[in-house]
Order: sequence, then structure tokens, then C-alpha cells
Amino acid sequence: MKAAVYHDYGPPKDVLGTEDVAKPTPADDEVLIRVRAAAANPLDYHFMSGTYIMRPMTGFRRPKPTVPGCDLAGDVEAVGKSVKRLKQGNSVFGGARRAFAEYVCASENKLALKPANLTFEQAAAIPVAGLTALQGLRDKGRVQPGQKVLINGAAGGVGAFAVQIARWLGAEVTGVCSTRNVDLVRSIGAKHVVDYTADDFARSEQRYDVIVDCVGNRPLSEYRRVMTPKGTFVAVGVRPAGRWIGPLPYLLKLLVSSRFVSQNVVFFIASIGTNDLTVLKELIEANEVTPIIDKRYTLNEAGEAIRYLKEGHARGKVVITVEHSTT
Ligand SMILES: NC(=O)c1ccc[n+]([C@@H]2O[C@H](COP(=O)([O-])OP(=O)(O)OC[C@H]3O[C@@H](n4cnc5c(N)ncnc54)[C@H](OP(=O)(O)O)[C@@H]3O)[C@@H](O)[C@H]2O)c1
Repeated sequence: MKAAVYHDYGPPKDVLGTEDVAKPTPADDEVLIRVRAAAANPLDYHFMSGTYIMRPMTGFRRPKPTVPGCDLAGDVEAVGKSVKRLKQGNSVFGGARRAFAEYVCASENKLALKPANLTFEQAAAIPVAGLTALQGLRDKGRVQPGQKVLINGAAGGVGAFAVQIARWLGAEVTGVCSTRNVDLVRSIGAKHVVDYTADDFARSEQRYDVIVDCVGNRPLSEYRRVMTPKGTFVAVGVRPAGRWIGPLPYLLKLLVSSRFVSQNVVFFIASIGTNDLTVLKELIEANEVTPIIDKRYTLNEAGEAIRYLKEGHARGKVVITVEHSTT
């Protein structure tokens, strides 16, 4: 089968190519999925760039996960012995390592049935970004109806889900994005939009109960200035400080400063599981949330897809359509 593969750390377009690799066999609790679409996430370029502090996870000298991708949608082709819920022929979406391939094995408990009203590309766009937005707002931000919520980075993969989910939770949403995305962010549910090229939300008189930050481009003190005294700051995105230590300085600063402030400061890593994927599926089928797709690429173009995402200005998600060389 074909997969996008990299053998060295480096820029996505230089190191990522398509190769023939062995088709995987599912373990007892896994299903084999014929991948129809996958989605790119910042994690893909963080892994591929070989940030030294991540190398215990990604491989010291050479990359360990050689096929990128962790979001997918496709059809179940075979099931392991202890799989209970899914059957051959089910269309599913969810999370699995090595998703940029024609076939992938995934744990049953990281998958859900594909929303009936979505294409495979739209479904593949959901897992990491949608779950991060849902868990960040509902579980970490504990957003209540009527609260004022600010989403920094509202036009990106996570941000576009966060705007829609915050509105569904009953919040009054403010989205922060650049000029070209103002209409998009308003159209998906933001009552107020701050164009960061013209205005600085951190200098406004407004106070927010919850801030979800998908950018990580400011010190905590600037967010605190516009938060209510008991507000919650949910750090989702972190700007890496360089190739050696990546996000560590930002996270340490956040951790230390959070101990001396009245507001709640949370950093979290989203978890992929059937229950929350099903919550998203139901929201999507009820037309409360719609995945936004910026660009589509083929498997052969996966390096260009990740390069584009790495520029940091995607509008919604970047997806890979997986065409099959064999039936
Ligand atoms: N904690 C977790 O579990 C988790 C999960 C997923 C992602 N993440 C992290 O969350 C971050 C966002 O992920 P993503 O998938 O949403 O990335 P993304 O799709 O690449 O985000 C791109 C968006 O960022 C916006 N942006 C860039 N500079 C901005 C600025 N100065 N102010 C406001 N918006 C700005 C861009 O809008 P404009 O084009 O309008 O500038 C663009 O729409 C990444 O750091 C990622 O690693 C964390």
C-alpha cells in the first residue's frame, strides 16, 4: 500500500515522500481502516521538525513515527478478535497514528461512526481540532450560557470549531483573526470579531469569562488584563521558542505565573475517544457545528499540505484525500 513517509527530520516538503509500505494487520482490539481522507495538524510538523526536547518521543537520531497523520475517516475493512462495536463496512472517523496512508489500524475506542451528513474529507477534519475545542471549552473552561468567551486564533483548525462550540454552549463569542477571515469567523457564530491587524483585544475595555488561546503569542499578563477576576484561561496553542526546547519556556512561564493569579490557568492535551467523537457527530448532524476545510491535497502532496499548515494561516482544516492504487 502507499503511505507518506519520512526518514529524516527536516522541512516537510524536503523529507516527506510517498512509498510502498506493508499493509498493517489489526491487533485484537483494533480495526483495519481503508483510509478515505486524513487531516494535517501542527503535531505533524512538530514531530517532523525534530525539536530536540521531543526526541525521546519522536526518535533521537532518526524519526520513529515515519508516517505522519493522526486524524482520519474511512471504511472498516477488518476487525480484531475482541472488537465489539464496529463491523466491516462501517464508515468511521477518529484518531490513529500513521494516518497518511491507504490503510491504518486504529483502536476501536478512538473511533466513532462518521456523521451521516459529511463527506470523508469533512469527517477527517474533525478529530484532533474538534475534540480540543470541545474539551477546552466544556471541560477546562466550563463555559456557561451567557458567558463572554474569547477565541484567539478563531479562523484556524481548532479555533473554527471553538467558535461554533462556544456558541452552542450559549456563550457570547468574540473571535480574533486577521482581516481576510473576519467574515468567516462572524459567519460561524462569533458575535464580535477583532481583526488583530487593526485592533488589540488585550487593550479593550471588555472582560471575558473564558479565553481559549490557540496562538500562544502573548504573555499571560496581557490576557489577564481582559479577563474577569475569576475567569479561566485555556492555553491550547503554544509558540515554540526554537529547535532545542520548543514550547518548554512558554509552558514553564505559564505554570509559574498561574500560581500567583486569581484566575484559573489551564494547559491541556486533548484526548481522543469514542464518547466525545460521538458528541461532535451529534452536534454536526444537528447542524450546530460544521467542519471548515481550507485546502485539499493528495497523498503525494502531503509534504506541501504540512508546509502550508506550518505557515500558520490555514482557514479551518487542511485535508488529504486518499485515492487508492488498488481496490
Ligand atoms: N493542546 C492540544 O491538545 C492541542 C490540540 C491541537 C492543536 N494544538 C495547538 O493549538 C494551536 C492551534 O492549532 P490549529 O490546528 O488551530 O492551528 P492552525 O490551523 O495552523 O491555526 C492557524 C490559525 O492561526 C491564526 N493566527 C495566526 N497568527 C495569529 C495571531 N497573531 N492572532 C490570531 N490568530 C492568529 C490564523 O489566522 P489568520 O490567518 O487570520 O492570522 C489561522 O487561522 C497549535 O499551536 C497547535 O499545536 C493543541
